[in-house]
Amino acid sequence: MAACSVGLLTRLSLRVQRSQVQRPLRRLLSCPGTVAADLRREEQSSGSAETGSEDRTPKKRFSEVQNERREQAQRTVLIHCPDKINEKKFLKFLSQHGPINSHFFYESFGLYAAVEFCQKESVTSLQNITRTPSLGPEAAIPFKSRYLNLKLRNSLNQTSELSSIQCSNQSSPSSKKLYQLLCCAESVDDQLNTLLREFQLTEENTRLRYLTCSLIEDVAAAYFPDCAVRPFGSSVNSFGKLGCDLDMFLDLDEIGKFTAQKTSGNFLMEFQVKNVPSERVATQKILSVIGECLDQFGPGCVGVQRILNARCPLVRFSHQASGFQCDLTTNNRIALKSSELLYMYGALDSRVRALVFSVRCWARAHSLTSSIPGAWITNFSLTMMVIFFLQRRSPPILPTLDYLKTLADAEDKCIIEGHNCTFVGDLNRIKPSRNTETLELLLKEFFEYFGNFAFNKNSINIRQGREQNKPESSPLHIQNPFETSLNVSKNVSQSQLQKFVDLARESAWILHQEGKDRPSPSSNQPWGLAALLLPSVANNMSLSKKKKKPASERIKNLLDSIKSSGAENSTATNGRRAISTQA
Ligand code: GTP
Ligand code: MG
Repeated sequence: MAACSVGLLTRLSLRVQRSQVQRPLRRLLSCPGTVAADLRREEQSSGSAETGSEDRTPKKRFSEVQNERREQAQRTVLIHCPDKINEKKFLKFLSQHGPINSHFFYESFGLYAAVEFCQKESVTSLQNITRTPSLGPEAAIPFKSRYLNLKLRNSLNQTSELSSIQCSNQSSPSSKKLYQLLCCAESVDDQLNTLLREFQLTEENTRLRYLTCSLIEDVAAAYFPDCAVRPFGSSVNSFGKLGCDLDMFLDLDEIGKFTAQKTSGNFLMEFQVKNVPSERVATQKILSVIGECLDQFGPGCVGVQRILNARCPLVRFSHQASGFQCDLTTNNRIALKSSELLYMYGALDSRVRALVFSVRCWARAHSLTSSIPGAWITNFSLTMMVIFFLQRRSPPILPTLDYLKTLADAEDKCIIEGHNCTFVGDLNRIKPSRNTETLELLLKEFFEYFGNFAFNKNSINIRQGREQNKPESSPLHIQNPFETSLNVSKNVSQSQLQKFVDLARESAWILHQEGKDRPSPSSNQPWGLAALLLPSVANNMSLSKKKKKPASERIKNLLDSIKSSGAENSTATNGRRAISTQA
């Protein structure tokens, strides 16, 4: 049994390139709860992004994907390994506890293995032979988690058998590599698809995100045994870049649900609970204890901050083993619904993700977005702008949210805190768009559209898919799709909006000029998307305009660009600035 599993394992390893591994995976997986179908679907949906060649295979609902991935994560352990290890023997050792479905190695301050068993019982069996370390004078706080440490017994005897392990990549390409890839592309469309391919979350990175949530869930379950910790935001909405943060939602709604459904007759049983003055106070109290728990007992959780007075209270921490910056919230179900909506839009047409990734990278390269909160536009707002723009095409590439609501059935009905968040969950009920515009055209038109948008009077509204009068005076108004009285970009200042508009106009102009006179690939000149991602190009182009601006604004822009070039650590290469696109 063990030997057979290892044979299978060696062939199933996820550590090699996805394209190489997916075919064998499909053929060989036999365990219950396999991910072969998921992989096949992802291969089809994320690989090619050609206009007009839409994937017609049935697509899974967001909730189905979430449930399957969560269940997969629960069968997975994370193991910190010595730098060199005999992979075959390692897998043979683990498979004593049951067959293994898949595994991969990665590096993050050391070598780690994520090993997915076929059955949950195998995890328990492995935990039962795992010991709590004795640390000499220090004391260990015992905690039976799924984050383990592998040590070699008699390592000297094993030296000859140890070898370096091939690791799966968890980071986006360097600026230099991206620049080369973009310059070698055949067309602007090819460039946008290349950027998507290089920056999108890999299968392994996605697994690691669900696994990290699952490990945090184990800690939270010490207080709330039936809780769930679910990823949301760009980790799951299909717009996540390698390196993006991991947004987590502590879901306590399942607690008590099962019992309540079973109750019958004239009696109704309720739990005795403590009351607090409001939902917000309850959220703060829950996050406060979970934050304390992660800080004191959470294996691998470091730098825990409890940010409880924010509009949306959260616990922020780094998960050392996965390398993710995590934001844990609770009572934030609408954000989970927004993630589902974005996932739907991302899955409806292959051009959506390619365009969103390029716009996000463009904004980052020009310091329009930042990982620090402030008066700048967020990735979430930029995504809403792309969706809105695609709703405005003729024929539209994406349907409005109101239309998606008309396709909903009883199962889709969803009211959260009095807000109607209903829309169709079955992607297969939405007809593909007849629009066949190229990505190059769409990117150019996106910049032109928002370079000339009447931000002073109009609001962006994906529910209705048309501009509306702004209900308030914020420089940028993007209606929150579910809490319709809120503006998701309320934080954006006039000067940041102006910077966005200036850069959008310049970028439209660059693409327009390029269309007429494109440098030959052999000239090694940045072109198309590569030219747009170079801060210096846009800065030079706008020099004449900048002269007309007040001195204070010019100095501020200059300072911003110096600051951003320092932060981005961009270096001069062959007299050109390197492309900076980090999340
Ligand atoms: P990254 O920049 O890649 O992290 O993108 P993200 O989409 O994950 O954004 P972020 O981490 O800032 O927020 C996580 C999720 O919270 C988003 O995807 C939205 O679902 C939600 N969210 C963020 N900002 C807002 C906002 O201003 N209003 C509302 N309603 N939801 C928001
Ligand atoms: Mg995020």
